[in-house]
Amino acid sequence: MEKTCGEENITILAIESSCDETAAAVVRNGREVLSNIISSQIDLHTLYGGVVPEIASRKHIERIDQVIGEALRTAGMELGDMDAIAVTYGPGLVGALLVGVSAAKAISFATGIPLIGVHHIEGHISANYIESKELEPPFVCLVVSGGHSHLVKVMDYGRYEILGRTRDDAAGEAFDKVARAIGLGYPGGPKIDKVSGEGDPDAVKFPRAKVAGAVYDFSFSGLKSAVLNYINSCEMKGIAICQADIAASFQKAVVDVLVEHSMQAVQECGMKKFAIAGGVASNSALRQALTEECEKRGIAFYRPSPVLCTDNAAMIGAAAYYEYRNGVRHGYDLNAVPNLKLGERV
Ligand code: KG4
Ligand code: ZN
Repeated sequence: MEKTCGEENITILAIESSCDETAAAVVRNGREVLSNIISSQIDLHTLYGGVVPEIASRKHIERIDQVIGEALRTAGMELGDMDAIAVTYGPGLVGALLVGVSAAKAISFATGIPLIGVHHIEGHISANYIESKELEPPFVCLVVSGGHSHLVKVMDYGRYEILGRTRDDAAGEAFDKVARAIGLGYPGGPKIDKVSGEGDPDAVKFPRAKVAGAVYDFSFSGLKSAVLNYINSCEMKGIAICQADIAASFQKAVVDVLVEHSMQAVQECGMKKFAIAGGVASNSALRQALTEECEKRGIAFYRPSPVLCTDNAAMIGAAAYYEYRNGVRHGYDLNAVPNLKLGERV
C-alpha cells in the first residue's frame, strides 16, 4: 500500500541514463541521499571527441544492473524498501534514455512499486534541495548544461516558467566546442575552467551577445565563431595563440552574459533567492562571479556541489519525491521523450 507523504519516510530508487553517465541513487524524502552511484563513460567518448550515442546506449545496457545493485547495497536497502522507482525519461539521447526507462519499468512491473518518470532539467534544479535543506520555491534558477541553457522561475515544486533559453548552442556545448578548437579536448568545460586560471580574462575581447527583444535569451554560437575567427586570424598572421588567454577570455564572456541575465531576472521577478544547476554550474569563475553579485544585491545564492551539478541520479530522486507528493505516477507505457519540454507531462 502507498504511504501518505508527511507521515512516513518516502524512499525512492532513482535511475538516470540520459547521456553518458549510468547512474542510480537512493534518496529519502527528497533531500537525504542514502547512495549516489555514477558510472561515467567519459573516458570512452574522449577517444571520439564527444558523446557517440550508440556507444552510450550499449554501455548503459552493460552497466545499469550493476549500478542499480550498488546503489541499493550502499544504501543498505532492498527493492522491497522502496516507495517508488524514478527514472529520467527526457530530454536526452533516445537510445540512452530507453535503457533507464526500460530498467525502471521492468523493476516496477516485477515488484508492483509505483513508477515515476522525471524531467532531466527538473532533476538538475532539484539538486539544490539536496544541498540546501532550507531551500523552498519560489526562486529563480539558471540551468546551464551540455544540452540546455535556461533561466527558469521555479514557482512551486513541479511548476516552472521559462524566462529565457538559448537560441542556438547551450553554454556547455560552447565550452566543449571552444576547448576542441584550442586543442584541449573533451570534455571541454572542466579543462577550460582549469587552464583559465593561468590566463588573462581580458587578453581578447570576445562579444557578449544579446538577443533583440528577448532580454533573458542567450546566444553562444556567435561567441564560438568569434573564438574560431580569432584563432584563424592569428594563424594567418603567424602569431602563436595562447591557449590559457583564449580560454580565460572566452570563459569571461560566457560568465558575464550568464551573470547579467540572471541578476536582471532575479531583480525583475522580485525574488530574493537564486540557484544554479547543470554541469556548467560547477564552473569556478561562474560560481565566484555569482557569489559576489548576489552578495552585493542581498540575494541568497544556492549552488549544488560540483558532483551534484553534473549528471547524477540523486537529483532525479529529489525531483521524484515532489512528483510523488503531487500524485504523479506513470504507467508501463512510459516512453523515452528526447525533446521533452520542462513542465510538460507525457
Ligand atoms: O549537466 P551535464 O553533466 O550534462 C547535460 O545534461 O548536458 O553537463 C555537461 C556539460 C558539458 O558540456 C561540460 O563541458 C560542462 O557541463 N561542464 C563545465 C564544467 N564542468 C562540466 N563547463 C564549464 N566549467 C566546468 N567546470
Ligand atoms: Zn544533465
